[in-house]
Amino acid sequence: MKVDDLEFEVLLSEAKIQARIKEMADEISRDYKDKTPIFVGVLNGAILFLADLIRKLSVECEIDFIKISSYGDERVSSGQITMIKDFSADLHGRDIIVVEDIVDSGLSISYLKRRIESMKPASVKFVSLLVKKDCAKVPLTLDYVGFEIENKFVIGYGLDLAQKKRNLGAIYQIKEQ
Ligand code: IMP
Ligand code: MG
Repeated sequence: MKVDDLEFEVLLSEAKIQARIKEMADEISRDYKDKTPIFVGVLNGAILFLADLIRKLSVECEIDFIKISSYGDERVSSGQITMIKDFSADLHGRDIIVVEDIVDSGLSISYLKRRIESMKPASVKFVSLLVKKDCAKVPLTLDYVGFEIENKFVIGYGLDLAQKKRNLGAIYQIKEQ
């Protein structure tokens, strides 16, 4: 696949992604037995993952969304985080599970952790489909991780390149020339 003169190859197939999500959903269902967590999807990237994850759960759940921005249309984080859409749900006293597509520097989730904790939830955990190896600039507290990947830019399954390619079922990485 070619985008803007970059060539992409499959890193994680649709089948592999879905099989791993089922394992994660089973683990979360066990951990939250008899609870009703609120899954907070981080827009836009996490929507496909969140939609597939919650359909594989065997516990009741609610959903909410937030939108933050740290990247603009660049492929490297600006490090500056802005809140674009805040929580709608009342998080006080609730079990919160933040759903991310990918953790790179970790700046986004550490910002979210501080913000959520100030709202006094009963508990807060973080789930990310992908985490980039050796990339975190801050100590990470991820509770559920789908796949650890190399420090390469990836697209598909919610992940974008200048807002495009989110609608692919598989995840692709830039092909080395
Ligand atoms: P962090 O704050 O550096 O951990 O950045 C996390 C956010 O950056 C993710 O939620 C994604 O939206 C975006 N991001 C990081 N790496 C990639 C990538 O390889 N492809 C697409 N988006 C990415
Ligand atoms: Mg994101």
